[in-house]
Amino acid sequence: MALLPILRYPDPRLSIVAKPVETFDEELARLAADMAETMYAAPGIGLAATQVNVHRRLLVLDVSEDKSALQVFVNPEILGREGEHVGEEGCLSVPGIYETVRRAARIRVRAQDLRGNPFEIEAEGLLAICLQHEIDHLDGKVFVEYLSRLKQTRIKAKLAKQARLAA
Ligand code: NI
Repeated sequence: MALLPILRYPDPRLSIVAKPVETFDEELARLAADMAETMYAAPGIGLAATQVNVHRRLLVLDVSEDKSALQVFVNPEILGREGEHVGEEGCLSVPGIYETVRRAARIRVRAQDLRGNPFEIEAEGLLAICLQHEIDHLDGKVFVEYLSRLKQTRIKAKLAKQARLAA
């Protein structure tokens, strides 16, 4: 397994729309394992393939308290949305920034596992929020893009400063 470098906003590669996974092979399983290791090490609760510069529709997440419940979603699709949830979100691609985002409170998602077997789940709470956030990544969208222009400009300036200090 290997830790993968995570793209940082506003890297233009975060805007690429990921393509469906068609081949369910060893390489896909290895990518999912590497993404899980990268997510746990960060540490974070979700990671989309887009964030590690692989533009295929795959995401991993673990919203459990003791980090014991890894979930992998291949080709996830939101079939239905219900209710509203307004809460603070962060992102491994936007380090140190936490902002309020409006999402659906409950969603129904269809996806495939690493073998290509289809499944459907009803998600609510943190799982529903995390899934919407990660599926957005696969569609080339970062959560800060829901904020005002002014806020986005401030966040870009803050991240540029962070990067300069780190260099
Ligand atoms: Ni994110």
